[in-house]
This record gives sequence, structure tokens and C-alpha cells, in this order.
Amino acid sequence: MAENLKEQEKNDLEKPLPKEKYEELEDYIDSLPSLEGRLIQILHKAQQIFGYLPRDVQLFVARRLGISGAKVNGVITFYSYFTQKPRGEHTISICTGTACFVKGVGKIIEALEHELDTSIGSTTEDMKFTLKDVRCVGACGLAPLIVVDDKVYGRVKPEEVEQILAEYR
Ligand code: FES
Repeated sequence: MAENLKEQEKNDLEKPLPKEKYEELEDYIDSLPSLEGRLIQILHKAQQIFGYLPRDVQLFVARRLGISGAKVNGVITFYSYFTQKPRGEHTISICTGTACFVKGVGKIIEALEHELDTSIGSTTEDMKFTLKDVRCVGACGLAPLIVVDDKVYGRVKPEEVEQILAEYR
């Protein structure tokens, strides 16, 4: 966690977060009838507003709910939906579940990393694509598969990667 927070401090320095976004989050929290058991709901909203959940936003939510920053960070790191880093315009989720692994998703990962010059868990320098791995998405018959934003690409071959990316470039 310390490493995550360190990275966040760097991001926070690079990109100051707009006051209006904090106000929007504050208004949302104020509109809730009670704050009991609402942490995940509030974090969803915060990520929708800010696009990601940097350290300052985590601490803001923690203060508002009267809980520790470590607790908020624990929830964020547990659920893969939440991200502490800014995401690119398009998110490419690569299934690394057993079926996809067996059907050669490793080659697809290599092709994507090569094409985008980045690695899983990172975003391209132009902020266009974020690569992330996910567990089985429940469509093993289509293995190996990747999901770009909400669109599923099944039985992907390494040589098709360039063409898939071209749809979003
Ligand atoms: S292992 Fe990839 S969809 Fe199930």
C-alpha cells in the first residue's frame, strides 16, 4: 500500500484536482440519507467524477465517513473496478483466466504490449489506452479474449491485435 500511495503522491503533484469535482462529491455525499455502509457506493461515485481515485480523494472520503485512509485504500485495492491511477481513453481488459491462458492469451499480451509500447497495469503515454488483466469473464468458449471498453473480442489471434487497436486510434 505504501508503494501505491507513493505513486499517487507523484500523480497528485502532477495533476491538481479541480475544486468543483470535490464540491460535486461533497454534494453527492450530503444527498445520501445515511452514510452507514455506503463506502463502496461513494467510491463508485468518486471514480465517476474524478476518473480515478488518487490519494487525496481517498483521504477526503475517509474524513467524510470518519474512517481511516487505510480502510478506504484497502477497499480500493481489493476491487479491480477501482483504480488509483488515471486511466486512458480506452481500457483494454485481457482475460488471464485458465481457459484464456491455455488458449494462448500470453501471445496476445505480448502483441498488445509491443503495439502499445506499454505493459499490463499501465497507460500509454498519449493516455489513449490502459492495459489491465482480469480474471475469467465467464465467456471461456471465446478464449482467448480481450474486452475493449465494453466490446468483447473473442478467439483473438496475435496478428489481429493491430487491426483491433486501429478501431480506437
Ligand atoms: S478464462 Fe477467459 S473467459 Fe473464462
